[in-house]
Amino acid sequence: MPAYVIVGMQWGDEGKGKAVDYLTKDADMVVRHQGGNNAGHTLVVDGKQTVLHLIPSGILHADTCCVIGNGTVLDPQVLIEELDGLAGAGCKFDNRLFMSGAAHIIMPYHKIMDKAQEAFRGKGKIGTTGRGIGPAYADKVDRLGIRLGDLLDAEVFKAKLEPVLEYKNAMLEKVFGLDPLDYDAIVSEYLGYAKRLAPYVADTVTIINDALELNKRIVFEGAQGCMLDIDHGTFPYVTSSTTLSSGVYPGAGIGPKRLDGVIGIIKAYTTRVGEGPFPTELTGETGEYLREKGSEFGATTGRPRRCGWLDCVQLRRATMINGMTNIIITKPDVLCGMETLKICTAYKIDGKETLDFPIHARDVEKAEPVYEEFPGWQEDISACKSWDELPENARNYFVKIEQLLGAPISIVSVGPGRTETVERTSPLA
Ligand code: GDP
Ligand code: IMO
Ligand code: MG
Repeated sequence: MPAYVIVGMQWGDEGKGKAVDYLTKDADMVVRHQGGNNAGHTLVVDGKQTVLHLIPSGILHADTCCVIGNGTVLDPQVLIEELDGLAGAGCKFDNRLFMSGAAHIIMPYHKIMDKAQEAFRGKGKIGTTGRGIGPAYADKVDRLGIRLGDLLDAEVFKAKLEPVLEYKNAMLEKVFGLDPLDYDAIVSEYLGYAKRLAPYVADTVTIINDALELNKRIVFEGAQGCMLDIDHGTFPYVTSSTTLSSGVYPGAGIGPKRLDGVIGIIKAYTTRVGEGPFPTELTGETGEYLREKGSEFGATTGRPRRCGWLDCVQLRRATMINGMTNIIITKPDVLCGMETLKICTAYKIDGKETLDFPIHARDVEKAEPVYEEFPGWQEDISACKSWDELPENARNYFVKIEQLLGAPISIVSVGPGRTETVERTSPLA
């Protein structure tokens, strides 16, 4: 039962999609277990780019089973668009793509509320993706949510929607001063989606656990990053799900002894989209350089990503709360040509030096990074195929990260393409 979880160790967009696509060569099943289409996971195969928001990043491997677990929130319209896009590109997924009937669906009022709440927050806005993710998870916890399985039975769906829509329309009209939504229009739109999605809906908990029993190799594909976790992130500037390795257990329906490894994906520098504290952020020329060279624009919203140096205070916290066993480092090729690189090894908060990442965003906001400097490398590393081919200064930078975090780097990604990958050891061993 070899099972591994891929976790973003920073604020998302670490390159999880590329890592999962690469690792799928050695996997039988890939499972998404949390988040929704706030995620944007980019795959580049034979020069062709595919951006996935909901479908697991193993889908481009013809024989791999892909599963969307119960812990996700699904916008049926986006899901269907994604399926159509893949089918149009020649990808076949009948009989190897399954979606949990227990996953909650994103409704039109969730998307409207997401945007209205952000406007309401004004200066205190979170900078959400506006995809309705927070309101959909809130309804799940509030027991007002509608699940994909409910959608498949027209009578169940209609009966569930009626009182919920009455409540949501009251909120839209009376709190936000917006127009109410039409019940019949939603019913007809969503029952149309149900027809398209019905062939894929299944009891994914059984599918995943049966695969574990048969010793199939499973990769669980985390979305977002652990600093966006609802409990351990920089609250309230976070997403609404558990983005940690431990989110796999409820999000996929497996027991806590099932995981064999936690593979942390670390970008060689740091990025963040949306609001919230970011101690090593570079707001001047160097930040702009990283954004341009690293094409740091959101795969979901196109927003420019904030860029900064690698932050090992933040990463130590991430290592601890995820139980990281291996590292995949991505995008060091973007750092090539820089004279000096910096790694944050401590924070100064109110004049005191600390190695600990604060639990409150207001304290993270005050953190001044303490840096160690490293000589950069000038060589293009994108054609490197082995650890020994990497420039010495690059290896020194990586070894420092291993020492600071106490986990080995298994893979160095040296470009966006599937083959632009240096595998030092297999993290799925
Ligand atoms: P995810 O959300 O973690 O899957 O990451 P995104 O796909 O949102 O953002 C990562 C971006 O970096 C994408 O455009 C990838 O194609 C690209 N990328 C991934 N790995 C590498 C790498 O090693 N080098 C470079 N230059 N780009 C990479
Ligand atoms: P992937 O999987 C980067 C951020 C948003 C915002 C906050 C809350 O591609 O790494 P939400 O819409 O989830 O309520 O927004 O979380 N965010 C992400 N940032 N990558 C992501 O996913 C993200 N998903 C959400 O920018 O700051
Ligand atoms: Mg992304």
